[in-house]
Amino acid sequence: MEQITVKASQSSYKVSVGAGIRHKLAAFLPKVYSNIFIVSDTSIAPHYLDDYAASLLPEAKVTKKIIEPGEAAKSKDMYFDILDSMFEAQLDRKALVLALGGGVIGDLAGFVASTYMRGIDFVQLPTTILAHDSSVGGKVAINHETGKNLIGSFYPPVAVVYDVDTITTLPEKEVRSGYAELIKEAYIGDAAFLDALLSRKQLDKENQNQLIQDLSLGIKVKTKIVEADEKENDLRKFLNLGHTLGHAIEAEAGYGTFTHGEAVAIGMLFALELSEKRFGADLQLGEFRSWLERNQYPLQLPDLSAERLIARMQMDKKSENKEVHMVLLQDIGSPVTEKVDHDTLLQAVVSFLERMRSV
Ligand SMILES: NC(=O)c1ccc[n+]([C@@H]2O[C@H](COP(=O)([O-])OP(=O)(O)OC[C@H]3O[C@@H](n4cnc5c(N)ncnc54)[C@H](O)[C@@H]3O)[C@@H](O)[C@H]2O)c1
Ligand SMILES: [Zn+2]
Repeated sequence: MEQITVKASQSSYKVSVGAGIRHKLAAFLPKVYSNIFIVSDTSIAPHYLDDYAASLLPEAKVTKKIIEPGEAAKSKDMYFDILDSMFEAQLDRKALVLALGGGVIGDLAGFVASTYMRGIDFVQLPTTILAHDSSVGGKVAINHETGKNLIGSFYPPVAVVYDVDTITTLPEKEVRSGYAELIKEAYIGDAAFLDALLSRKQLDKENQNQLIQDLSLGIKVKTKIVEADEKENDLRKFLNLGHTLGHAIEAEAGYGTFTHGEAVAIGMLFALELSEKRFGADLQLGEFRSWLERNQYPLQLPDLSAERLIARMQMDKKSENKEVHMVLLQDIGSPVTEKVDHDTLLQAVVSFLERMRSV
């Protein structure tokens, strides 16, 4: 098992990553809770919820809220629905919320916990690889019709208990999605981790020791950045490597066409190409492309308009006054935020789209 302590401005919390640790949940909680509310979804709960519930102290009152899976759950209706259930379960300020699931459940249950009676404790129990990212750093949110994650807060969990056993049932597409964020973290801050990932033949969700190592290394890169910049002023933007074009592709192709991580992987390819051109560094692009191919990342893009993608990139939160700012790499482990002027961007996007249509 690996343990990483994350220091937040108000408190710190431990992230524990291990195999089978869902059977010992009570030991990872910072105190004894008598009223516990578990939020999960119908793809996850049948596999793991009973194990987690059984590992709590027998005298604790446990209420379960199991919702439909999917991004649509991060809505104001579901937010109020969960609050209603929490009042019904008579949770007081000393109660605990457990978020058992991927980033959707973590963001939603965390946001509910942050506002129920002005905030009660919550613990993240991640079940996806991508959730190594969403469960650490304290950002919780739901969506608004205007855009994703627009209603939210910074509200760190009191603990993160990550049982890699749960990854065995994760669909391959979601494994790829999560590993895109891991390789992103390696590129931003851990050259040795990057070498290890690139030299590996295939993603393997059955190799628990490797999963524990990979998730911990990714979490360490993220932790270092969020500790230095908890509220997203400057450094935290580096975690958006690949996300400027990635988000635009995700939205333009239609949500659900690519998973978030698959779109980010394509966005990274673009950002790394631009970085090599601008800084002349060797970012192991050939190896990265081959890693994506051998792991069946979708690299063939549908017919997308460069202008529309750029319009979306201009709305990205790093961009200012319609000027696109992107995270680029001066070298592996040396991210920077750079302004990319419109002509350069247009040329680069058009050429990238052309090549990605004929991959
Ligand atoms: N707060 C943050 O800092 C942050 C960072 C990154 C992403 N996010 C958010 O995370 C969300 C995406 O999270 P995600 O990729 O984990 O998706 P997700 O939570 O939707 O999970 C993906 C799918 O896999 C299923 N699933 C999850 N675990 C499973 C398991 N162990 N076995 C079988 N099926 C399982 C889920 O039911 C779902 O259908 C987005 O809403 C995004 O905005 C938040
Ligand atoms: Zn992401």
